[in-house]
Amino acid sequence: MEGKAENKANGYNEMETTVEKPSPAGHTMNGSKPPSIIIETQNMELKKNLGLTSAISMIVGTIIGSGIFVSPKGVLESTGSVGLSLLVWAGSGLIAMMGGLCYAELGTLLPKSGGEYIYLKEGLGDIPAFLFAWTSILVTRTSSLAIITLTFATYAGSFFELCGGPQLPEKLISAITIILIGIVNSWSTTLAARVQVIFTFAKVAALVVIIVGGFVKLAQGNTSVISSGFEGTTDSPFIIALAFYDALWAYDGWNNLNSVTEELQNPPKNLPRANVGSVILVIIVYLLTNISYLTVMTVDELLDSPAVAVTWGARVLGAAKVIMPLSVLVSTFGGANGSAYTSGRVVFAAARDGFLPEYLSYIHVKKYTPLPSMIFTVFVSLLMIIPGDISSLIDLFSFTAWCFYGMTFTSLLVLRYKMKEAHRPYTVPIFIPILMVLISIYLVVAPIIHEPKIEFLYAFVFVMSGLLFYFPLVYFNLHFKCIDTLTMYGQLFLEVVPTKSEED
Ligand code: ARG
Repeated sequence: MEGKAENKANGYNEMETTVEKPSPAGHTMNGSKPPSIIIETQNMELKKNLGLTSAISMIVGTIIGSGIFVSPKGVLESTGSVGLSLLVWAGSGLIAMMGGLCYAELGTLLPKSGGEYIYLKEGLGDIPAFLFAWTSILVTRTSSLAIITLTFATYAGSFFELCGGPQLPEKLISAITIILIGIVNSWSTTLAARVQVIFTFAKVAALVVIIVGGFVKLAQGNTSVISSGFEGTTDSPFIIALAFYDALWAYDGWNNLNSVTEELQNPPKNLPRANVGSVILVIIVYLLTNISYLTVMTVDELLDSPAVAVTWGARVLGAAKVIMPLSVLVSTFGGANGSAYTSGRVVFAAARDGFLPEYLSYIHVKKYTPLPSMIFTVFVSLLMIIPGDISSLIDLFSFTAWCFYGMTFTSLLVLRYKMKEAHRPYTVPIFIPILMVLISIYLVVAPIIHEPKIEFLYAFVFVMSGLLFYFPLVYFNLHFKCIDTLTMYGQLFLEVVPTKSEED
């Protein structure tokens, strides 16, 4: 099942390289003994398919999503000035890059699937690992889907307006998109993977248009906004953390290669190189895009614009302005699809380890798609869009994500003692993980001090509520008959079966 989980999780075509077939033991769905599915990986060498270039494009494809189309506004709002906002964009890139270096050590020391889940389990123990997996399905995975589809909805609104159509309620569009993505991912993982690849091209194309257009304007002498420098800069160090939240959302995904370390050729060399190389590429693209926005719009216009790239398009592209919301639509749809698609690994790994309800690792008997976890994700994501607006959801996502990133960097430091003698193909200079732990603490604590929002409390309660399940179900390993009965009916209802790992 390993190959399946990995491929499903990485969001790329490799999914097609696995062959799944029902076991000869039968496929009865009578609920007596759950039928097993044996997943065979056709070709184990395909796992080492990723060279440096494909590894880099894989990270870049995950990082660039909705953020560069929504976050510039939030960053500028919190920093107050063009100069500081560009510094925050560069600084966030640097943070993502240092994070990538730490993950390079972890990924080569513990080259197993599951990413943070594995590092936390080895370094800090079962409880943090469990809470991480739990939080992934309850908060981070679902809030990222909500954020990206809400961005999609904003741009869909602008698109309809530009075409003279009616104003559509954004949350409704967002909800329909989440359901649609749920259907695509439940229908066929191959289809979901294709959607992902095609849409990645669109987002890169949209950014290239923005960069080129902006630089033409810059060359024509539109430099007044850019040259305003640090005018208006905020003096609160706590608000700056919120600016980092917005920019770091746009850089999130820097850790993605760690989920497919096993598929990488020569990880000791390629993991650090790919992690750093791709973030450098994204830093350049993001900085140039921001400069382009600020060349074409004034600070106030950027802050007032509900859809930055659309305002940009209206200024620069004239009659062709409809291209902008359209490409952002395609790009965010791809991002949302990827987010729904890629998060499966942790859920699978943890559910198979008995760390999450086993039902969440079941797959459809004919379509081989992870139906229960998909339906669960769609359901929680829909709940998130009801009260949520993009910016508070980004705060919720970043707060939770950085709690666990911080714990993962701590894990790295702990493992330096726990696994002192272990062979480390790549060792990050010790000051980097120490700095990253401090940065994570700042990113988690500063927004609470600045403005204790209710979202942070929700996040904390969500995370901790995992313990209610951890102790009875994992630690004491209690077995409830009613769960078996529910699982049985759940199996019959969705026609799903347990997955079996290759070692079983
Ligand atoms: N950076 C992405 C964006 O700007 C968000 C990535 C969310 N994280 C993830 N692992 N899917 O939309």
